[in-house]
Amino acid sequence: MGEKLFKPITINGMTLKNRIGFPPFLNMPAEEDCSINDQTVRWFEDRAKGGAGLVMTGAVVAGPPPDLEMLKLFGLTRVGLYDDKFIDGFARMAAAVHAHGAKFGVQLEGLGSVMSGFGPSLPPYPDAENPTSDMLKIHFDLDMPMVEISIEQIEEVKQCFADAAVRAKTAGCDCVELHCAHGGATLNCSFISPYYNRRTDQYGGSWENRLRLSTEILQKMRAAVGPDFPILVRIDSDQLLGDKGITLKDTIEHVVPAMEKAGADCLDVSQGDMLRAGQGVLIPLYYSRGCFMDYTAQVKKATKLPVIGVGRIVDLDMADQLLEEGKADMIYLGRQLTSDPDTPNKYLEGRADEIRKCIGCNVACGPCPINYEIYQQHIPLTPAESLKKILVIGGGVGGMEAARISALRGHEVTLMEKGEKLGGVVASLALDPLNAEFGNFIEYLQIQMTKLGVKVMLGKEATEANIEDLGPDAVIMATGASLKIPEMAQGKSGVLDHVEALEKRDEIGQRVVVWGLMYGAELAISLAMEGKEVTLIGEAGERTMASHASNARKDWIWRKLSDINYPRETPEAQRVDNPVVKLNVKVRDIGAEGVEIEDKQGDKRVLPYDTLV
Ligand SMILES: Cc1cc2nc3c(=O)[nH]c(=O)nc-3n(C[C@H](O)[C@H](O)[C@H](O)COP(=O)(O)O)c2cc1C
Ligand code: SF4
Repeated sequence: MGEKLFKPITINGMTLKNRIGFPPFLNMPAEEDCSINDQTVRWFEDRAKGGAGLVMTGAVVAGPPPDLEMLKLFGLTRVGLYDDKFIDGFARMAAAVHAHGAKFGVQLEGLGSVMSGFGPSLPPYPDAENPTSDMLKIHFDLDMPMVEISIEQIEEVKQCFADAAVRAKTAGCDCVELHCAHGGATLNCSFISPYYNRRTDQYGGSWENRLRLSTEILQKMRAAVGPDFPILVRIDSDQLLGDKGITLKDTIEHVVPAMEKAGADCLDVSQGDMLRAGQGVLIPLYYSRGCFMDYTAQVKKATKLPVIGVGRIVDLDMADQLLEEGKADMIYLGRQLTSDPDTPNKYLEGRADEIRKCIGCNVACGPCPINYEIYQQHIPLTPAESLKKILVIGGGVGGMEAARISALRGHEVTLMEKGEKLGGVVASLALDPLNAEFGNFIEYLQIQMTKLGVKVMLGKEATEANIEDLGPDAVIMATGASLKIPEMAQGKSGVLDHVEALEKRDEIGQRVVVWGLMYGAELAISLAMEGKEVTLIGEAGERTMASHASNARKDWIWRKLSDINYPRETPEAQRVDNPVVKLNVKVRDIGAEGVEIEDKQGDKRVLPYDTLV
């Protein structure tokens, strides 16, 4: 496999050694003044070293200059290219990427309409009667002030993009990518989108008018960098806001021809809206791998330009197959090159089983919970000065990772696990089809245990005698946490703790009460999807549901289980009626009839159940 994926491709004179790219990731390391630092260089160099053919920056501020105080206030940093002073930094990054045979591109955006405070027109969206909240409101209760951008400011923005593209070229970068995707998060896409753009001047109304800002920027960039410098354009295949946003049909009929005409060399096809349909951009683990590639394939059919496909692709066999099927000409691997930047090289070298596949948790994607090296101060794995006999107690992911690092440093490692299998609680969570991707990390660590010669002892309790028998120089405790069933439920029939519910799924009856909003919300949805009649109960309010999870995961869960005013134009964004959710209730008793709950008004009712989790 990999025949297509590792075949070079040329985009307007830029030849890539393979068809794997690292897509734009906004959270690249940066200084407070928008300049880059050693970590930024390493962030890109690692991806190039790992074998990707193209490495793209995240959205870089083309200009106007951001309000640095405001960025600081929000604890944000951005990389800028709005001044000549940044050229040297980009030259450093380009050189570092080139040293590994990859090409380096710069994605250009303004600050994004939310952070810049400029939009095509004013909220509320989509209309005054049915305003929807954006993710800043939903997750941080922030109302960002927004003003309608003036014609004079539009002229300034256009010039900024052209100047920034020239700076990228001067710095030795190989291409630029104009960001016109992700809905309200970018100025360009919010102009293109009927959802956000209510202007009545030459930049609003018809498709031609709404596309005018992006196409004029593109033309100005082209005029500035000349005909031979590759300009990629990132577009949304579908904004995932139904007919109120950009649909796939709109993209094919209007966006693609306009970008072709304005001088794009390649279309990078994403989808969604970072403010209101983030599931298309960040695609959490609940979605199947490559789930939007059929949209991309439709766009590809409509253009002669090379097309980049992206979105929850973690497996290079699959990436190769997508190219083979003609769905795209190239694949961007974002989170996969974050959880394991060496993915392309490992695959090429026949070490695909050593690839640490992204689990789709969306915790931060730098830092990444399964790849400690990303975005941290670099702590190189040096050989240990004195080699020790190390005993790791506990075979969950923490224990296996400790064993892996110890073995890599040269220690003689034994891992002792009381149970009969490795993986601990995470392995149990991975039994749920919704969380199956968690299994990627277990699989990786298990293979590493074998490859690194870690002696694994299963079914062995760490008693004093057992530990003394082994005579370790050092012991690492990684026994994890244990679950506790509330006293009131202990010994009652049909009661399972969360792990038991995952491991003994076939023992779960038809009527299920899940008690606990945090982890319970996900399990409740999963059981309901399986056909069980589920009631989810808890003492707190709706925002406690899945509060342990990343916002991308929460959004998926909250859409299904709450009335939070998300846009709900697409089928999967609808609230479901199974599970039934009972918030702000206390459990008063558990008896033969069921679980007795009491709400804040003091009203009591009994929920009959076959299984209580
Ligand atoms: C942390 C993070 C930051 C991102 N920043 C950007 C960005 O600056 N510009 C952009 O166009 N897309 C951005 N994206 C979207 C990615 O480019 C990519 O389309 C998305 O992660 C899906 O691909 P993947 O499943 O391979 O990660 C970002 C995604 C993540 C997870
Ligand atoms: S943080 Fe999670 S989703 Fe992001 S790269 Fe790491 S494993 Fe993947």
